[in-house]
Amino acid sequence: MVKKLYIKTYGCQMNVYDSERMAEALGDRYEPTDRPDDADMILLNTCHIREKAAEKVYSELGRFKGLKAAKPDLKIGVAGCVAQAEGAEIVRRQPMVDLVVGPQSYHRLPELEARAGAKTPAIDTDFPEEDKFAHLARRPKAARGPTAFLTVQEGCDKFCAFCVVPYTRGAEVSRPAETVLAEARDLVERGVREITLLGQNVNAYHGHEGGLAGLIRALAGIDGLARIRFTTSHPNDMDEALIAAHGDCEKLMPYLHLPVQSGSDRILKAMNRKHRAEEYLRLVERLRAARPDLLLSGDFIVGFPGETEADFADTMALVEAVGYGQSYSFKYSPRPGTPAAEREQVDEDVKDERLQRLQALLNRQQEAAQAAMVGREVSVLFEKPGRLPGQMGGKSEYLHAVHVHAPGVARGEIRRVRITESASHSLGGVLVP
Ligand code: SAH
Ligand code: SF4
Ligand code: F3S
Repeated sequence: MVKKLYIKTYGCQMNVYDSERMAEALGDRYEPTDRPDDADMILLNTCHIREKAAEKVYSELGRFKGLKAAKPDLKIGVAGCVAQAEGAEIVRRQPMVDLVVGPQSYHRLPELEARAGAKTPAIDTDFPEEDKFAHLARRPKAARGPTAFLTVQEGCDKFCAFCVVPYTRGAEVSRPAETVLAEARDLVERGVREITLLGQNVNAYHGHEGGLAGLIRALAGIDGLARIRFTTSHPNDMDEALIAAHGDCEKLMPYLHLPVQSGSDRILKAMNRKHRAEEYLRLVERLRAARPDLLLSGDFIVGFPGETEADFADTMALVEAVGYGQSYSFKYSPRPGTPAAEREQVDEDVKDERLQRLQALLNRQQEAAQAAMVGREVSVLFEKPGRLPGQMGGKSEYLHAVHVHAPGVARGEIRRVRITESASHSLGGVLVP
């Protein structure tokens, strides 16, 4: 009998991609279920980026205690960045865990699964030499939705002073272009029209001549693939070729996630970001010269150790100067093993108050960017039916969610839409005849 697998995914898009591939790796033994109480195996694909994210794992595991008591054969596994960071410690804190697997060892999952449930838990948090993607089972030839993630680069060599990723994901590795292109063609054959290339530092990709820009141009040659996106980029790896691609590669969408974290040179230096605020602003200018309608999104950290009111004011000023269409902002969270965790910390209420001010500004900018779409024509890739009869929902080039009364329009179609209204987190529009 085929068993049932429940996977819960936390953290970034790379975890979403990894969860898909893990499910496929176990594909001949398990079929997916979205109900944990139905499952023969529960896998939590975890995130270690902030304390809250990491602690969620233990509260979630606590919720499964009853299930495990009722069904002793149930296997419980922890994958992802908490697995990498904490390894055997997870089993010490939560002895019902049968399996711990780090992000670089997913291809060993079937073997670990077979071992798990015996008296000793199966733990693998190596950084093996072999390429896990090459060893992971191929995706079965099942139909896919119109959009897909595709990891092309993993790991990070940047060592920002706040960040766990270089420790949990290891050194930067690029997948060879041939395997990326083959996977992309396979996705397109199965109905995918938009691919988002993923990497912790995706613009440092070097598996193709000409780097990420070279890969994007090669992907653009695939018939049937209509849209290409990539995330996440470090400002220092945004080279001339990639800026130019935003100007002249039609399939590359006019949306760029370009985290800056802070607008203060002092704090950028303390964070080890290796650029100044002014350089970021010049980069944004060059990108907008290449693609004037580019919608920018960013990540921000407030309350990094040493951040003064003046430093925070520099962040607010940078945000004012750039004008973001979308953004993610966080209170600094000290992470074990990272340099900044050892430094003198900013008070929690100061962090709270700064986060509120920053988010108020970012929200205003997001609303303004959406409102500016009203009256404009965009193209929408339709992904799923909306809540109202005849309604379809999809994304514009700018990654705005758009709802349209569009009876007869199928998933995966791209249609011109005139935007007529802006709601809190989506746009409404009508099909252009
Ligand atoms: N590779 C990406 C970021 C990956 S982590 C980059 O270089 O931009 C995603 C975001 O989480 C970061 O951009 C940062 O804003 C936030 N983040 C990372 N570590 C954090 C920490 N210790 N506390 C608060 N936010 C953090
Ligand atoms: Fe973390 Fe910095 Fe690497 Fe991004 S570039 S993953 S923030 S260390
Ligand atoms: Fe989290 Fe790991 Fe992604 S720490 S953000 S799941 S790379």
